[in-house]
Amino acid sequence: MISNIGIIGAGTMGCGIAQVAAQNKHKVVVVDKDKLQLEKAKAGLDKILSRLCEKERITIQDKEAILHRITFTTDLNQLSNSDLIIEAIIEKLGVKHDVLKDLEPLVSDSCIIASNTSSLSIASIGSVLQKANRVIGIHFFNPAPLMPLVEIIPAVQTDEKTLNAANDLIKNWGKTVVKCKDTPGFIVNRVARPFYGEALRIYEEGIADFATIDWALTELGGFKMGPFTLMDYIGNDVNYMVTESVFKAFYYDPRFKPSFTQKRHAEAGFLGRKSGRGYFNYINPEKNTAANKDKTLGLYILNRVRCMLINEAIDAVFMNVASPVDIDLAMTKGVNYPKGLLQWADELGLDEILNQLQHLFDYYGEDRYRPNPLLRKMAADKATFF
Ligand code: NAI
Repeated sequence: MISNIGIIGAGTMGCGIAQVAAQNKHKVVVVDKDKLQLEKAKAGLDKILSRLCEKERITIQDKEAILHRITFTTDLNQLSNSDLIIEAIIEKLGVKHDVLKDLEPLVSDSCIIASNTSSLSIASIGSVLQKANRVIGIHFFNPAPLMPLVEIIPAVQTDEKTLNAANDLIKNWGKTVVKCKDTPGFIVNRVARPFYGEALRIYEEGIADFATIDWALTELGGFKMGPFTLMDYIGNDVNYMVTESVFKAFYYDPRFKPSFTQKRHAEAGFLGRKSGRGYFNYINPEKNTAANKDKTLGLYILNRVRCMLINEAIDAVFMNVASPVDIDLAMTKGVNYPKGLLQWADELGLDEILNQLQHLFDYYGEDRYRPNPLLRKMAADKATFF
């Protein structure tokens, strides 16, 4: 039975996860080394809950009860009664190790120790624990209270009991849970790479500008946001770092090669919305060029990005990263894709996707475009995913 929850790190993610846990009636202790951050977190949560009251999503009594369930502290000792601890501190392995080494002697043997990391391996995080079968990845998306998806990642050390307990708990919180292997980027941050990478490549080849590529993917593809608008929203610095880290973690597989265009934008401080300018200008939006709404060009862009995304989703099936159902759930619930990529592949026809990729592979001669063996096999067998 998991009742007391500990969160380490009162930043964006720690706060959001604490809110979700407290709304689900758990007692929560949030620890941060920075007192000011704790005060900010508390004030931020109060504001969010007040807004929920105004919208009549919760009552004033609910708000008070939620706040009452959460303790904010700098004292790690206050986590001693926790049944589950989720660390959501800075993305640095050494710092996470130091915190876990300090933490483990304070908690019971049965306490589960989870990490919300987006790019480090759960195996490496858990390696400093004496009882490493209690480690697990519980990866929420930002903002945690609103995003339905949670990726659950057992490491090689994780036991079945830990996996089941984490899975049941997060499901009970009303989240969509997908299970995935402890591999770089887990599901979403791996499968989504071509949405950015192929869009950037199309731009770099001079085939279309940012606005046109975004138009093709939103208007013709049904994506909620075009890749350049989305990268500007995420921040080019952050998105570039994720891409680079996935690329390195895959031993420099050319499928994940980062883009100079994005690097230069990040270097120039064109970070996106947060700096007023990224691929688009948010201070003087009239300076942005209009999309070229040529349907033939638009369809070329859509097909190219989409077949690369589908190839990546198929690779995740091929390498047993997750089940086809979970991969489609991850992309629709974690990044709001209009359709699961494997479902989409079935509808478009696997032979058609194979044709598109094979054409790119023949034209460029680059390993980046190699069709996945499972795609080849399924297309030959006229098989479908669902
Ligand atoms: P953040 O920078 O907003 O917050 C991190 C917090 O950890 C800060 O308040 C900092 O004071 C605290 N901290 C740092 N070292 C500490 C220590 N030794 N002891 C206690 N507290 C410490 O970071 P954010 O964005 O919330 O990310 C946290 C984790 O969640 C990272 O592992 C990140 O990769 C992951 N993540 C982030 C997402 C995002 O969109 N921001 C999405 C999903 C996962």
